[in-house]
Amino acid sequence: EKQPILVQGPMPIEAEQFADRLDDVKEEKSGTFVFYKGTVDDYPVIVAKTGKGMENTAAATALAIEKYDPAAIINQGTSGGHDPNLEVYDIVLGERTTNIGALKTGDRDEGEGIEPTNWIPMDLMASEGSAGEDPDAENIRYYDGDQDLLTAAQQVKDTHEEGKVVEGTIGSADLWNNEVDRIQWFHEKYETSVEEMEGAAGAQIADAYEVPYLGIRILSNNKVNGGEYDPDTAEANQEYVYEVVKEYISTA
Ligand code: 5AD
Repeated sequence: EKQPILVQGPMPIEAEQFADRLDDVKEEKSGTFVFYKGTVDDYPVIVAKTGKGMENTAAATALAIEKYDPAAIINQGTSGGHDPNLEVYDIVLGERTTNIGALKTGDRDEGEGIEPTNWIPMDLMASEGSAGEDPDAENIRYYDGDQDLLTAAQQVKDTHEEGKVVEGTIGSADLWNNEVDRIQWFHEKYETSVEEMEGAAGAQIADAYEVPYLGIRILSNNKVNGGEYDPDTAEANQEYVYEVVKEYISTA
């Protein structure tokens, strides 16, 4: 039995079009998570509709690894631009993914206010000790995208005609940033290309189980350069990821 490839999407518009492309589909539910088990070119592929956000993604990833033992995981969907050179419909391959919601505040007494630009990145995986006290935890943790998945994605990048496909850094948190100065702060400090709410959660769990992982995110909006939200980007990304999966299978 071949190990399946797992393709994750948070919202219905980010998962169901890929699920519709599978052959011989069987639907399995677990909690609020929906797994569409099928095939692409006779190869086992499972589409997971995870729900939005870090918690849903982490749980759905651990569950899928325990239940289905995937050979590789692609986490895909929409995102918001942090890089002014990226337009709506451009796609970012997650060469790196990082949690931009893990932060330690500065040391301030009563009446000294709130200063988010002085907050310090916090790496919860730096040690088993207290992240508040451990100087090693004052660190940005990046999860590297899997090289074989990146290679497959690069091979088929010309199939995406509505925009360009670039490698970059995906930042994740249960957070939607609409403050341009704050977006620029992340872009400079973390070198983020885009933000979304899932990638780093899936990357952390995939890393814990040593399963190859890649985030693939299309821009549905870009506050930095006035790119208006377009939900149709979700379908375009699934079409591209379908090509990536076929390419990955052909070399497996
Ligand atoms: N900020 C945060 N999340 C975004 N998403 C799309 N654009 C953004 C953005 N600018 C994605 C998230 C989440 C849903 C709200 O859409 O990943 O699943």
